[in-house]
Amino acid sequence: MVRLQDFYTNKKVFLTGHTGFKGAWMAAWLQQLGAIVKGYALPPEYDNGVYDYIRPADSILDDIRNKAALQTAIKEFQPDFIFHLAAQPLVRRSYEIPAETFDVNVTGTANVLEAANNLKCTIVIITTDKVYENKEQDILYKEGDALGGYDPYSASKACAELVVSSFRNSFNNKAIASVRAGNVIGGGDWNKDRIIPDIVRALSNEQVIEVRNPVSVRPWQHVLEPIGGYLQLGALLQQDPAKYAKAYNFGPVAEDHLTVKELVEKAISIWGNGQWKDASKPGQLHEATLLKLDISLAKEELQWRPKLNAAQAIEWTINWYKQPANNRQAYTIQQINEYMQ
Ligand SMILES: NC(=O)c1ccc[n+]([C@@H]2O[C@H](COP(=O)([O-])OP(=O)(O)OC[C@H]3O[C@@H](n4cnc5c(N)ncnc54)[C@H](O)[C@@H]3O)[C@@H](O)[C@H]2O)c1
Repeated sequence: MVRLQDFYTNKKVFLTGHTGFKGAWMAAWLQQLGAIVKGYALPPEYDNGVYDYIRPADSILDDIRNKAALQTAIKEFQPDFIFHLAAQPLVRRSYEIPAETFDVNVTGTANVLEAANNLKCTIVIITTDKVYENKEQDILYKEGDALGGYDPYSASKACAELVVSSFRNSFNNKAIASVRAGNVIGGGDWNKDRIIPDIVRALSNEQVIEVRNPVSVRPWQHVLEPIGGYLQLGALLQQDPAKYAKAYNFGPVAEDHLTVKELVEKAISIWGNGQWKDASKPGQLHEATLLKLDISLAKEELQWRPKLNAAQAIEWTINWYKQPANNRQAYTIQQINEYMQ
């Protein structure tokens, strides 16, 4: 295990997507490590996310497709690290805006890599577990498995993987890795069509939780798990690009995958009360039902492993939402510090 402070304290980190769920947690963690963070993203789509409680002083609110603005921001900042999280990240929205999803996720990634082309910096591009050609079988996907993507979101992220390997092969900066994580949960996510925000909204309003895919198995993990992995990989990649410039999966251990139904029932028990119902409909938009990741590469090469099991991840998540607004900043930092121990 590397000591993250040794790599990030006083280092310049360019972070895209810092106004979103995962990016805001990452910005908060980096600031705890003493990094100098510059964020680049669109304005937040919702209130009461982690960004509202802890935000980097240096923040550009612009589109990743604004190539000139992005290039200027990166070149002026001269980052030591870039973590690229900005994306259109929702499967169901990708059915409504397919071309835009490809534009943001594929061209956006190329824009980031082109802007950093001649810089000496370490780059981690965040894709997803959905980049694999999903065989709907009970298998664990490994980094070398075929890329695919049924829906526009998944396919756009598989394309982003090709962009990454193309830039790595074609240009000077070889210190580029991609990371594939599964369904991430944690406090401060208010995105539409995601299970935890759906649960919290229903429970807060004393409504029955409507569950679209109760039997789907997902690799649930707390948001600090993959982010810890991204930070660990960034540090090692900077030390030894030839070894670590590749793709890594981050997910829970195999015996810790839960169905959506199990997650909902656990969340209700931590909240204290509530009810759910099966709202699946025949002919609903296709969403993969079975998706498990093999995380042995990250375990072996990065010495990374999950610290929280699924039950703890749900507990940490629901406890965040139970905090009053005036304690959420302190609670976010408390969870980061507890996780780092
Ligand atoms: N949350 C998950 O379960 C999950 C799972 C796998 C992968 N991911 C990936 O992690 C990353 C972050 O996801 P998230 O859950 O935090 O999503 P989010 O929607 O909460 O945040 C997305 C971020 O991207 C920014 N963004 C979107 N379009 C942009 C554009 N055109 N220009 C500039 N910025 C733009 C938003 O402003 C926001 O800061 C994404 O790349 C996503 O695909 C998320």
